[in-house]
Amino acid sequence: MKTLPFSLQSVIDELLEKIPAPKLKEAAERLSFKYRNEQGRKDPFIDQENDPFAYLCYRFPATFAAISRVFEEFTRHRPGFSPKSIVDFGAGPGTSSWAVAELFPNMEKLLLVERDAKFIRLGKELLHSNKDLENRVDWKLQDFQRVVEEAFDLTLFSYSLGEAPESCWSSLIGDSFEKTKEFMIIIEPGTTLGFSRILKFREILISLGATIVAPCPNQMACPMQFPNWCHFGVRLARSPMHQLVKLGSCSFEDEKFSYLIASKNKCEPFGSRLVSSPEIKKGHVNLTLCKEGKIVNKTISKKDKSLYKKSKKSLWGDVFLNGDII
Ligand SMILES: C[S@@+](CC[C@H](N)C(=O)[O-])C[C@H]1O[C@@H](n2cnc3c(N)ncnc32)[C@H](O)[C@@H]1O
Repeated sequence: MKTLPFSLQSVIDELLEKIPAPKLKEAAERLSFKYRNEQGRKDPFIDQENDPFAYLCYRFPATFAAISRVFEEFTRHRPGFSPKSIVDFGAGPGTSSWAVAELFPNMEKLLLVERDAKFIRLGKELLHSNKDLENRVDWKLQDFQRVVEEAFDLTLFSYSLGEAPESCWSSLIGDSFEKTKEFMIIIEPGTTLGFSRILKFREILISLGATIVAPCPNQMACPMQFPNWCHFGVRLARSPMHQLVKLGSCSFEDEKFSYLIASKNKCEPFGSRLVSSPEIKKGHVNLTLCKEGKIVNKTISKKDKSLYKKSKKSLWGDVFLNGDII
């Protein structure tokens, strides 16, 4: 279960205590309604005074968890590689900086590009609680459709690229990929709509010569067919305030996300990926895998002792390589 760093959670709690609970709840409900009915929206999601606080309360822990999970996946494919410079387009309150601090501690420069000044103010307040991280972060109040001249090891769009009009996606990805030295990561909500965008982003990246590192095991056409869609999940803890605005007593929730990790360099295709939870049956486990451009089912019998044991413990999103689950 993913939790926010303790010191960060304390700062968030302090900030949220300043907003009367009914106002925070009302803003969270409004924002949640907008995110659920996002198709075709043109106006910004964050437009009222308390919206950034509502985001901080109930979306920030979830997007932090999703970013962290995707970064973990990145390190599974590139063990030992730690980007020194990162740019995050549509950074919101700097959610990624906290995941970067945990997973890429050697990062020297993180540029957070965001068009909403309220988010930047809030993000700066959060970063005051971590001076070391704060010193390595720069903010840019700017529309990410304007080109950033500098080149970065890693470019991130977390829950943001889909907010740009579709007509801009090709040029936006083209410009930012050109400025990317090594990797681009794009994360979208794990909904059918989010996945449909990921498919389009994937096509654009492949046309630019990128190699898709994850979640796809290869560059073949995506075999996932509606009503299924390629998405993954991460469980995160809900703080008491988070539970209050969600009107629920459950102390956790599952965030679903779809994503892409693309590289400038050629990477070897890998075996296959689990695209749903393993089905544990009597004497065998059924795995659903994305493999060689197809969705295939694989049965692991109890007779295959070590693999059976691993399959039972395997997780949606794991990689199946050379007859082993890693
Ligand atoms: C859903 S929030 C995601 C925030 C953060 N990346 C995260 O994962 O928590 C989307 C963010 O993208 C920003 N955004 C959307 N379109 C943008 C644009 N054209 N230029 C700059 N920021 C943009 C929004 O202002 C908002 O802060």
